[in-house]
Amino acid sequence: MDEKQEIERLRAELHRHNHNYYVLNQPEISDQEFDALMRRLQDLEALHPELADPNSPSQRVGSDLNGEFEQVIHQRPMLSLANTYSKAEVREFYERVALGLQGQPFSLCCEMKFDGLSISLHYEQGRLVRAVTRGDGVQGDDVTANVRTIRSIPLVLPSGCPQEFEMRGEVLMPWLSFERLNREREAMEEPLFANPRNAASGTLKSKSSAVAARRGLDAYLYYVLADELPSDSHYRNLQLAGQWGFKVSREMRLASSLEEVFSFIDYWDEARKALPVATDGIVLKVDSLSQQRSLGLTAKSPRWAIAYKFKAERQATELLGVTFQVGRTGAVTPVALMTPVQLSGTMVHRATLNNEDFILALDLHVGDLVEVEKGGEIIPKIVGVDKEARGEGLGQKVSFITACPECGTPLVRFEGEAAHYCPNDTACPPQIKGRIEHYISRKAMDISSLGPETVNDFFQRGMIRDVADLYDLSVEQVSGGKQSRRTSAERVIKGIADSRSVPFERVLFALGIRFVGEIAAKTLARSFKSIDTLSRASVEQMLQVNGIGKVIAESVRGWFQKAENQRLVERLRLSGVQFELSREELATHSDRLEGKTIVISGVFARHSRDEYKALIERHGGKNTGSISQKTSFVLAGESMGPSKREKAERLGVPLVSEDEFLSMIEG
Ligand code: IVH
Repeated sequence: MDEKQEIERLRAELHRHNHNYYVLNQPEISDQEFDALMRRLQDLEALHPELADPNSPSQRVGSDLNGEFEQVIHQRPMLSLANTYSKAEVREFYERVALGLQGQPFSLCCEMKFDGLSISLHYEQGRLVRAVTRGDGVQGDDVTANVRTIRSIPLVLPSGCPQEFEMRGEVLMPWLSFERLNREREAMEEPLFANPRNAASGTLKSKSSAVAARRGLDAYLYYVLADELPSDSHYRNLQLAGQWGFKVSREMRLASSLEEVFSFIDYWDEARKALPVATDGIVLKVDSLSQQRSLGLTAKSPRWAIAYKFKAERQATELLGVTFQVGRTGAVTPVALMTPVQLSGTMVHRATLNNEDFILALDLHVGDLVEVEKGGEIIPKIVGVDKEARGEGLGQKVSFITACPECGTPLVRFEGEAAHYCPNDTACPPQIKGRIEHYISRKAMDISSLGPETVNDFFQRGMIRDVADLYDLSVEQVSGGKQSRRTSAERVIKGIADSRSVPFERVLFALGIRFVGEIAAKTLARSFKSIDTLSRASVEQMLQVNGIGKVIAESVRGWFQKAENQRLVERLRLSGVQFELSREELATHSDRLEGKTIVISGVFARHSRDEYKALIERHGGKNTGSISQKTSFVLAGESMGPSKREKAERLGVPLVSEDEFLSMIEG
């Protein structure tokens, strides 16, 4: 067998194993065997860049460099559903449908309402060509690169499916992935996602498909659209889609009476709690497509379908008191302490009270009977007070504190913001410790020989007050002079010393400047090249940089204006921390493609597509997915698709060959 055939065989085999594992939950081979096949495929693909294929199973790991998302107009608008909250409203829907169908018999397809983000997947000739978010229903973001990393979405279909069709469904983060992600974020002191839907949305819109690939998204598909479909039954079409490789919910039933609909609702209201993904209701759809057409649409939603929303779980319990928590940024959150109650499967004894206005609006008193709700959110919240239940002896009125519970500094509340802050960022313990924990975290300086506990310990022992103090620590200090602790102390000191070689972009992220996340830090480091140029940059200069907005620019400016931050930078510099791009980075970066928006199309001989994407970024350009008026040129390889070529010609977008491109960036 030649290598080309082997690549094809491996791709087909890996697609099948993905389907077995992620859709059917029935793996046939071990993870190790899977990895071995994948490695073989990756090796062969590296030898044959001319056979690159975005739908290869090897592409599921994503890449670091997606461009901005292209806006795409939906071929068929993505409507939403009318919501109902009671069985009476479901009955009204049922009767409206019966009336509309003038007495014809009909059945309803009952489905789970998945609580994620809707997605539209386009397949042509059995291959995934585009994935678009709902957006405003008329146009959405092209998120194909991220969607390719979702293992349960088939990239290549078996023969016998329609030539061109659209699949719609929901992208979700399963509870298990969600909990793992939040545990990781907690350890790194990053803000937690409130619920799996927000986490899925943040992930699907991540600029890095490698991030998306790691986070374990899943997708359930619930709607097939095509000019011609195999069956007049929605249910039947979905079952067929299941055979084409899509993950279709097993919790789907046809009902031919209102009683059957109600028993489906009653059953799943409870049973849904055991499902691996979040659901927030039931969707009812008239099953026959011809009946759907005859019922038609309103401006916003179809007349043939409706959503029934479950009630969020709620319990009443006694308020025992309120405490206040201070986070890394100094924000103060009021937390209710309550007699424990059982809610959605867990015992709950703390719930957020948001902010001062919220507490005042509830007129909260200690001893009140409060209503706690745990909807899609992981952190339970108080939603109301039972004032009728108050006895004679009303407890103490809850009021917001005026001084920081950790350091005593008077709190401030900024104009237009609901939160209170402790302004003592230089001396308030949770803020100091939070900044140091952020500095040592994996994506920042990655000092894994330290953790939150050691940081707390060093802080308590008066050894560290800021991140620069880390570099002054000695083995003697860390071990406290104890011989038994010497080896571990040496490891700590080595870990800190090693962080001197962490590249500038991560150092910039590690400084913990508000709103400067990993991506902004990378962008700023590459544009300004050293901390000195960045510290002198004006807000206007930063705004010139693609991806840097006003909030980030002002925060960076404000940070460098503070004398204590300038001193910190100087001390870190003396300790040997990297404050400029390395020589290699400077040599491989330029601004030759500054302001250029570039589409890559076809296959290439000298570099892979991902390498070209990386090259575009390194030279200041922007890579996007589809050709538009904004495209500066198409980097065109062999066998570029005819529709792309035609579009480029129509819009007058020039084609640039591989060699021309390489000489462009080499100057
Ligand atoms: S069908 C025209 N089926 O709910 C009808 N939607 O409020 C198209 N959703 O935007 C939608 N589970 O994101 C349908 N089984 C299901 C669903 C579902 C969740 C979401 C979807 C839609 C929203 C409507």
